[in-house]
Amino acid sequence: MVIGIPKEIKDQESRISCTPAAVQQFVQDGHTVYVETKAGVEAGITDMEFEEAGAIILDRAEDVWEMSDMIYKVKEPLPSEFKYFREDLIIYTYLHLAANPELTRALVDNKCVGIAFETVQVGSILPLLKPMSEVAGRMAIQEGARLLKRTHGGKGVVLQGVPGVAPAHVVILGAGTVGTAATRIAVGMGARVTVIDINVDRLAEIGNIFLDKIETLISNSLNIAKVVKDADMVVSSVLIPGRKAPQLITEDMVKTMEPGSVIVDVAIDQGGSTELTAGKTSDNNNETVFIKHDIVHYLVANIPGTVPRTATQALSNATTKYAGAIANLGWKAACRKHPELASGINTAEGYVTYKPVAEDLGYELKNIHELISISKRPLFFLQARARRNISY
Ligand SMILES: NC(=O)c1ccc[n+]([C@@H]2O[C@H](COP(=O)([O-])OP(=O)(O)OC[C@H]3O[C@@H](n4cnc5c(N)ncnc54)[C@H](O)[C@@H]3O)[C@@H](O)[C@H]2O)c1
Repeated sequence: MVIGIPKEIKDQESRISCTPAAVQQFVQDGHTVYVETKAGVEAGITDMEFEEAGAIILDRAEDVWEMSDMIYKVKEPLPSEFKYFREDLIIYTYLHLAANPELTRALVDNKCVGIAFETVQVGSILPLLKPMSEVAGRMAIQEGARLLKRTHGGKGVVLQGVPGVAPAHVVILGAGTVGTAATRIAVGMGARVTVIDINVDRLAEIGNIFLDKIETLISNSLNIAKVVKDADMVVSSVLIPGRKAPQLITEDMVKTMEPGSVIVDVAIDQGGSTELTAGKTSDNNNETVFIKHDIVHYLVANIPGTVPRTATQALSNATTKYAGAIANLGWKAACRKHPELASGINTAEGYVTYKPVAEDLGYELKNIHELISISKRPLFFLQARARRNISY
């Protein structure tokens, strides 16, 4: 298979999908890898390192897109990249389609295979979202603490307080991977922390990790309104997998907060989880921070993109396994071998194949298992296997 790795063009996005070590593995497995020149530079990886791993460097993005069977990237394609879409092109990346009807339409109309990192699911775990959520959760507190400075419009408090002065109150909505990572940093920085989730088991787990260092609360609008009013910083990290984020923090709740408080809406990539941030992302208005009702709102849809060295390594560690399986077996056989990958297929053969996206955007759902059950082992796979006498 020909694997193409274009340079990311989204605002503030500096990651690349994989490391030279992953490229070397693809090449050893008999695949061709094209990398757009300077695609890895901001993540600290040079063209020469990719070349030494066996990649071919191309100068133009359009060549990478047009000459590849699978595009392996980080963030969802932007409208300027839709012109490269064509039938059976595999696009393996974060897609967040429920919040992006335009991209969904382009993938369906062009019959692309859209494989979304964020919906690959093993039990209740989203293994390809997890590493970026670990990064985003840690960064959420770092960014929130920065915005609490007066110079950034914040109320001017330090999270830990000082002897004789109370610490700041950090409220974390959603006790999943982002929420747990954010809690770890907020607790470490000495803040008073309240964690809210709709799932009592998650609250029990996080309670067992942080013991008396945090308070936990069940999620309902009454509890959210109560703690948001008292918060210096709110980190919103709720997720209903594949769906648009629920708007749990209303404008009326925001109006009750003290001026200069901060809301970090990490769930902005799923459409935004507050009434004021919903539908506004850093990509469609270039605005990563805005102040409304004297409250500072942070809405960056690709927080890990701001720390590309750490994030690229973590992303590559998680996603390379399935990229290799798709390249070695073809996407259908890869889904049969790794059933969790099937939940990552959001579009294929002109259909939406992921239920929450079909429901949220009003598409007819095609059962992915109907598409993958027909075994069409691609020629390149059979040839590679015969050549190397290997079995998968
Ligand atoms: N902006 C970024 O750069 C970035 C990076 C990574 C992840 N994210 C986003 O952060 C969000 C969280 O990701 P995650 O990996 O932590 O997900 P997760 O599934 O691990 O956790 C989500 C949590 O939200 C809880 N939840 C769902 N509905 C709720 C409600 N009504 N009230 C309270 N809690 C509720 C769930 O029970 C779960 O514990 C997702 O939207 C994800 O896409 C954003």
